[in-house]
Amino acid sequence: MQALRGTKDILPQESIYWQYIYNKALKILSLYNYLEIRTPVIESVDLFKRSIGEATDILSKEMYTFTDQSNRNIALRPEGTASIARAFINHQLYQKNTQRLWYLGPMFRYERPQSGRQRQFHQLGIECIGSLNPMADAEVINLANRFLQEIQFRSYKIEINSIGSLENRKKYQQDLIKYLIPYEKDLDKDSQKRLNINPLRILDSKNKRTQEILNDAPSLSKYLDTESRQHLWLVCTYLDDLKIKYNVNDRLVRGLDYYNSTAFEFKSNLVGSQNAICGGGRYDQLIRQLGGPDTPAVGWAIGLERLLHIARDELKIKKKGILIYIATQGIKAQKKIWEIIQVLEKQEIRFELDLHNNNFQKQLKRASKSGAKACIILGNDEIENNFISIKRLDQHKQYAINKTNLLEELKKIEKTVEEKDQKTGTID
Ligand code: HAM
Repeated sequence: MQALRGTKDILPQESIYWQYIYNKALKILSLYNYLEIRTPVIESVDLFKRSIGEATDILSKEMYTFTDQSNRNIALRPEGTASIARAFINHQLYQKNTQRLWYLGPMFRYERPQSGRQRQFHQLGIECIGSLNPMADAEVINLANRFLQEIQFRSYKIEINSIGSLENRKKYQQDLIKYLIPYEKDLDKDSQKRLNINPLRILDSKNKRTQEILNDAPSLSKYLDTESRQHLWLVCTYLDDLKIKYNVNDRLVRGLDYYNSTAFEFKSNLVGSQNAICGGGRYDQLIRQLGGPDTPAVGWAIGLERLLHIARDELKIKKKGILIYIATQGIKAQKKIWEIIQVLEKQEIRFELDLHNNNFQKQLKRASKSGAKACIILGNDEIENNFISIKRLDQHKQYAINKTNLLEELKKIEKTVEEKDQKTGTID
């Protein structure tokens, strides 16, 4: 049996990166009072129809859906924002102050898998709900930037745009279609399909010929109302104050229908086509559209597989190994060892207990392979004469200690390892 195409097992040597990302996110987002929210992985299909939009790629071809035993139409969530808007309404979070929420979890899209693109992938996202203030946009963009800095990833650029109001876009869409129709046959296949269903997405096309045609197309920025223009101007001003570098990209549109006004993306300059590591923007109508009160919001999501694929080598993570290996022999020693384990636990020392039950020579071989710095040996001899044997695996020496000196000895071992780490400059 194999894992399904587009899905991956995250094995222990890989999960240290995920724990690192979770902890860094928790640290930086807590500072700005973003609180973690966890919503279900399954939702009604209807939620995504009414938020992401039926004409989008996600709804038209990428959703994992099924009918459950009660004939309900269920989807594996393709993203987090719609679920959070639903939870916001269900729990009447609008009765409280601005809601600052963050999440990390699996999302599902039936896409063609390639490096940095999976069918089950994880997003880290934040949503700032309840403010129209451009400061909110600046805050969320700043946080994506801060998070990426915190994990020491720097190879990206930020693009920002305003897609205006629904009315602005409607008018623009009509003129864009009018402009593109004479070139219909010259457009790439995807753009031809999008011409009548979702023409704005054509701006996103990576096809050279399509991009050439677009060079003389009407520009979205000319269709923006004063409010949208001012909003974008203020967001950019705040980003300047924050000393965050960005480009205004007039062709940046987003693949989900709920957006208005600010749209932005963080693009890696290290990879080819899968370069969008973070995408987000404003969605001021979504909550009302789903039956809640008029509540503006802005947020983003980072694709973690994509980020790790690109940034993994730049992340400096200390792989924590075990300090102590424990070898035992005979029932008396194996009854006594639990007392010693409690001492290790109290001192928060990472250890591994040998469970193979064979001779000391073999156990010590495994101890050496384990990467532990020392091995505690407890056999019949030790029990009868009331001592503990310590073999320093990093110094190739063995000695006996009194049981009462165990804690002191452990501290000594810890200290020599710490000193060595300091010399080699290894960091947590
Ligand atoms: P999105 O642009 O669809 O936006 O996805 C955000 C990020 O998720 C992308 O930039 C990418 O890094 C990652 N991603 C998307 N699809 C895949 C995939 N198949 N494999 C790996 N990574 C992927 C949203 O989902 C919005 N909910 C973001 C948002 C939050 N807007 C406002 N709040």
